[in-house]
Amino acid sequence: PLSRSLSVTSLNGLPQWDEEDLPVDDLLLFEISWEVTNKVGGIYTVIQTKAKITSDEWGDNYFMIGPYYEQNVRTQVEICDPPSHTITKAIDSIKASGCQVYFGRWLIEGSPYVILFDIGSAAWNLNRWKGEFWDACNVGIPFSDREANDALIFGSLTAWFLKEVTTKHLVLDKPNLIAHFHEWQAGAGLVLSRYRKLPIATIFTTHATLLGRYLCAANVDFYNKLDQFDIDVEAGERQIYHRYCMERASVHCAHVFTTVSQITGIEAEHMLKRTADVITPNGLNIKKFSAMHEFQNLHAMYKAQIQEFVRGHFYGHLDFNLEKTLFFFIAGRYEFSNKGADIFLEALSRLNFLLRVHRSDVTVVVFFIMPTKTNNFNVETLKGQAVRKQLWDTAHTVKEKFGKKLYEALLRGEIPDLNKILDRDDATIMKRAIFSTQRQTLPPVTTHNMVEDTTDPILNTIRRIGLFNGRADRVKVIVHPEFLSSTSPLLPLDYEEFVRGCHLGVFPSYYEPWGYTPAECTVMGIPSVTTNLSGFGCFVQEHVADPTAYGIYITDRRFRSPDESCNQLTQFLYNFCQQSRRQRIIQRNRTERLSDLLDWRYLGRVSEEATPCAATQPRVTHPAANPHNTHHCPTRGNTPQS
Ligand code: UDP
Ligand code: G6P
Ligand code: GLC
Repeated sequence: PLSRSLSVTSLNGLPQWDEEDLPVDDLLLFEISWEVTNKVGGIYTVIQTKAKITSDEWGDNYFMIGPYYEQNVRTQVEICDPPSHTITKAIDSIKASGCQVYFGRWLIEGSPYVILFDIGSAAWNLNRWKGEFWDACNVGIPFSDREANDALIFGSLTAWFLKEVTTKHLVLDKPNLIAHFHEWQAGAGLVLSRYRKLPIATIFTTHATLLGRYLCAANVDFYNKLDQFDIDVEAGERQIYHRYCMERASVHCAHVFTTVSQITGIEAEHMLKRTADVITPNGLNIKKFSAMHEFQNLHAMYKAQIQEFVRGHFYGHLDFNLEKTLFFFIAGRYEFSNKGADIFLEALSRLNFLLRVHRSDVTVVVFFIMPTKTNNFNVETLKGQAVRKQLWDTAHTVKEKFGKKLYEALLRGEIPDLNKILDRDDATIMKRAIFSTQRQTLPPVTTHNMVEDTTDPILNTIRRIGLFNGRADRVKVIVHPEFLSSTSPLLPLDYEEFVRGCHLGVFPSYYEPWGYTPAECTVMGIPSVTTNLSGFGCFVQEHVADPTAYGIYITDRRFRSPDESCNQLTQFLYNFCQQSRRQRIIQRNRTERLSDLLDWRYLGRVSEEATPCAATQPRVTHPAANPHNTHHCPTRGNTPQS
């Protein structure tokens, strides 16, 4: 018999799958999220990387539901007809009322079907839908909260669509549907489906709790006070009471409630008052290279591209050896203290001091990839790349002339006088080129004009600690406040390519339910820093005997003061700087070996378990939307652990 453990304790302990438990042929699975085809953060990564194994298993019975954005559809979706009349009819009946719905295949691995609702086209229903939502669960949504209003429109359209499907997709006179909702933005659809007693099995996965995120961002000693918060009051004071109600109602209406890590499971018990039925750690879609060392070659290739960028950015100040320069980075949604950018900057300041006093010949260039509002690239940064290009062109022109003269001399059977082979004009061109590399200012700390430059927390910390890319600094900083893209005129690399070219990812998060960024580093063979407050960090601690040996440095942010954590982080960074190239190559090999642990093919087993568990529920209709009413999945007679 299957034992449905609530946690993954070892790879061997992952649940086994009996053939007869596999989803039946006519069962439809819907996965609903605001991040379907719409990149915001890690939820997009969950959905996108899991698509392949879910599509392989569910085929034409699997559909994702998300919001429609013209730009996203133009670049990522191939519009097509639905594979069944049921879906076509359900979409048509919504369209007949004047709301736009798009159907297509998402052009990612697995090419899943997507159903995308145009929120704007349905906005005229908002007031009525607010009323219906109030009737369902007594949650009122203020006019001023655009995101919550959009979430309600999205949820209302989802519930409407699912209702249409349930009346049309009848198997032996019974509907046969599972709907998996992610995060509070999709939750209204779940609450309304249950309130309307739609015969659907529902799953809700939370990737964070609203209150957890807010309280941590306010520098509260969150983990030591988990049981002491008056959560209604806290939500009210932060003006997110309605969002928190939407989240909590979704959690309590779901047949199966899951979250992405043990640590968020505990948080949910306190912040949402329900214990997760299943913990579903996030995986990745691991592609193995046929050549073992291919990822090392990729590192060298993309590092060369980053070096080119650095040559331009630091023009006139390239008095450090690029062969002895290490590239560190932090990346993700811009949550200054939750993502640990605060202690990272402090640690960099200490690292700079250590490298200077020990007269180290190593230079560290640190990238901050965290999007915020900008007015495009700044002139100084663009100029840097233009200067580099000009020097390259000059070198190329002189080289051509030199080569031609040399060739002609050799044809005459002479060895040319190397002192005369370049004439005065050549020297002039070169001098002019060198003069153009003079600059009055230090290499810029940021690549963009930031809209909120004077209040930006990263820039303000840099100002305070004085890391201004001075000549004497061994730690240089480049803030790139936009996600990376291969079409960028500045640093034309995708995020994945950039990560491969770096030496170390640093993610010292305080609040991080899972944290894809260090996991992604691991599967690319790039070492990283994480913490024992991140879902990923705890997962690694549990499964890997000596994470440091595998290039995963786990900072203790739980049992140490911020200053002690910062010192530990500084020590990790300093030790990393002392490694030889050979040691780094060996470490990358070891890091990459952990990738199987993070493959959906293993971790997907845990997620799948939540699905059939819910599948036994479709015909049960519970009174919905009572945040204090918990429905646990009874399938295998398990009582959720507390
Ligand atoms: N990411 C990206 N482009 C970038 C930087 C980050 O696509 O330039 C992605 C990264 O690959 C990761 C996600 O953003 O999958 C961040 O997810 P994570 O779980 O670390 O944090 P979240 O933002 O969800 O809190
Ligand atoms: C890879 C390449 C090597 C290169 C090395 C640089 O392993 O295969 O040819 O020397 O990267 O490593 P480093 O850590 O110095 O960037
Ligand atoms: C959330 C969390 C992040 C997690 C992601 C995917 O955005 O902040 O830690 O990795 O969801 O589950």
